[in-house]
Amino acid sequence: MVNLPEASLIVIENLCKSFDDGAEAGVLNNISINIKEGDLVSLIGPSGCGKSTFLRCLNCLELLDSGYIRVGDVELSRKSVTQKPDERMLDAAHKMRVEVGMVFQGYNSLFPHKTVIQNIMLGPLVVKKTPEPEARETAVKLLKKVGLESLANKYPSTLSGGESQRAAIARALAMNPKVMLYDEPTSALDPELVGEVLQVMKDLDSEGMTQIIVTHEMQFARDASDYIVFMDKGEIVEFDDGDVLFTNPKNSRTKEFLRHFTGTGMAVNC
Ligand SMILES: Nc1ncnc2c1ncn2[C@@H]1O[C@H](COP(=O)(O)OP(=O)(O)O)[C@@H](O)[C@H]1O
Ligand SMILES: [Mg+2]
Repeated sequence: MVNLPEASLIVIENLCKSFDDGAEAGVLNNISINIKEGDLVSLIGPSGCGKSTFLRCLNCLELLDSGYIRVGDVELSRKSVTQKPDERMLDAAHKMRVEVGMVFQGYNSLFPHKTVIQNIMLGPLVVKKTPEPEARETAVKLLKKVGLESLANKYPSTLSGGESQRAAIARALAMNPKVMLYDEPTSALDPELVGEVLQVMKDLDSEGMTQIIVTHEMQFARDASDYIVFMDKGEIVEFDDGDVLFTNPKNSRTKEFLRHFTGTGMAVNC
């Protein structure tokens, strides 16, 4: 659950982000949340509510307009959007990007002209200057972890969507991140391939990895998450244990959103 800042791996305070200076409300409006090491957090909410932007700010693919983000020891703060990013801020953003692994929705994110194992070794070799034998050894271990050891020398075009996503997870893990973020990692997959990708996240959870997953897989969110965060209109509306949120949501916006899933076998009392 949400914890005291000193016990948290991730601390986010008053995170704001807008893409249009003229807009009345931003895409992210004063988001504050603390996430404990080892937690698996599902982030749900209607399309366009800011889920991807939230992950992208945490991964520093987008620079926050204002607020504070800490991941482990790396801190990034900005007083307002008018504060020009200085060297200190850019250095923190660079460090944070290394601490935070990210897997995207599409399964075409691997470099097509490199084999699976080359894809996984690339980040450590180029960014971390890891010696080749060490990078290879780590990649082999990670391929085993995601069940792809037999596909090490295949090219991405020969993989199924589920295999590609598992390779993308292994590639992110190769940088030894403190946190893994997933932006709808299974939404582009055929239904029969979803389970194998979700299973990798469950396995990582049991090993203590901290993970934030934007997902529409409500059953997974409910069963596997330590808690679920519901976002709407750039705000965190409510967060709670999956069983509580699905059976007894407090906020009317949460109830309205979850109502869409009542026909899917999910028990939602609202
Ligand atoms: N790079 C961008 N430039 C301009 N607007 C953006 C950009 N990224 C996202 N947005 C806008 O921000 C809002 C939230 O988008 P997003 O974070 O992708 O929502 P979600 O992932 O919840 O569907 C949307 O209105 C979207 O159009
Ligand atoms: Mg999105």
